[in-house]
Amino acid sequence: MFGEAFVTLATNDNYAKGAMVLGCSLREHRTTRKLVALIGPHVTEPCREALHSIFDEVRSVDIMDSGDAAQLALMQRPDLGVTLTKLHCWTLTHYDKCVFMDADTMALSNIDELFEREELSAAPDPGWPDCFNSGVFVFRPSVETHEKLLTFCADNGSFDGGDQGILNSFFNTWATADISKHLPFVYNLSSIAIYSYLPAFKHYGRDAKVVHFLGKTKPWCYSYDAQSGEVVNRPQDPESGRLHPDYLQTWWRMYATSVMPLLQRAYGDQPFNSGVLEASCQEKLQQDKPGDQMPSSPTIAPPTGTAPSPRRVSSEERKQRWEAGQMDYLGDDSFANIERKLDSFLK
Ligand code: UDP
Ligand code: GLC
Ligand code: MN
Repeated sequence: MFGEAFVTLATNDNYAKGAMVLGCSLREHRTTRKLVALIGPHVTEPCREALHSIFDEVRSVDIMDSGDAAQLALMQRPDLGVTLTKLHCWTLTHYDKCVFMDADTMALSNIDELFEREELSAAPDPGWPDCFNSGVFVFRPSVETHEKLLTFCADNGSFDGGDQGILNSFFNTWATADISKHLPFVYNLSSIAIYSYLPAFKHYGRDAKVVHFLGKTKPWCYSYDAQSGEVVNRPQDPESGRLHPDYLQTWWRMYATSVMPLLQRAYGDQPFNSGVLEASCQEKLQQDKPGDQMPSSPTIAPPTGTAPSPRRVSSEERKQRWEAGQMDYLGDDSFANIERKLDSFLK
């Protein structure tokens, strides 16, 4: 009798931290399935040790990189060539069925019911809904499928330079053939979608089962003040305003309470950059950057006070910028402002 497993991938220590939080979140919600982490050669020894205490299996894999700079540049993500390494998940043939989850996802409830689905089940991509997003998918390990995927890769390349392009071209009937292979969006709720369809998030968001911190800025790009429980030190990247503060807080709480102790044990006396601020660093940070903080209460409001105050723009200019995709997530187009506007319409 073969088993079933959740599988993730980390090629470096940052993604390994994401994988640890994901693993802890699945355990916290009492999964009955095995947990497997695929790791690349650059994951350092202490991180491997910490992964071993969370995952049932930590397996080393070779890096596969598309090196397709042109396609990756279109997504402004030169780092995503290595996501082809994900295809190794089909080699886990000692499992009958698996659910792959990106290392930047986190379970918000028990999701073991995903194993009732068939290969290849996934949720729509928020950017191009006739494609599935490859951050969460159900698959059946098989040497044959693995080989076919590699051949397909070599013959056709990937239209986005990463695994998602390959997988959508390979499983190319997903959009039309069988609706049971469309996972509800709540199994892969990405931060991008929250902002592009806020009313839907307000309506359905409470049912979210998996949050996906899709995009360049990841939770580990921030820091955390364990004493106050606040996420602080937001990266300058304007995209960072799109990470929902509540989910970010949940990620960091899980990291600080469940992952940090494992890393501290694994690193022993060696210093390491945990991302969790010591009290003295926190005081310094506040002196250096007044106001550079996430909100302390778990509200829906966005981080405040982080953006350099821009000059006021007319509402026509704002509209043009919005239509050109240049949203000011940190200022006029911030979560709180959009929500306030919506509420005023609804009233
Ligand atoms: N990944 C990795 N190392 C990298 C980039 C990606 O291990 O340098 C893995 C990791 O599991 C990650 C997944 O590939 O979650 C997809 O990349 P990412 O989540 O950054 O893509 P996005 O969802 O933001 O498009
Ligand atoms: C996507 C997916 C991610 C995938 C990447 C590269 O945006 O979220 O899982 O690895 O594209 O194809
Ligand atoms: Mn991802």
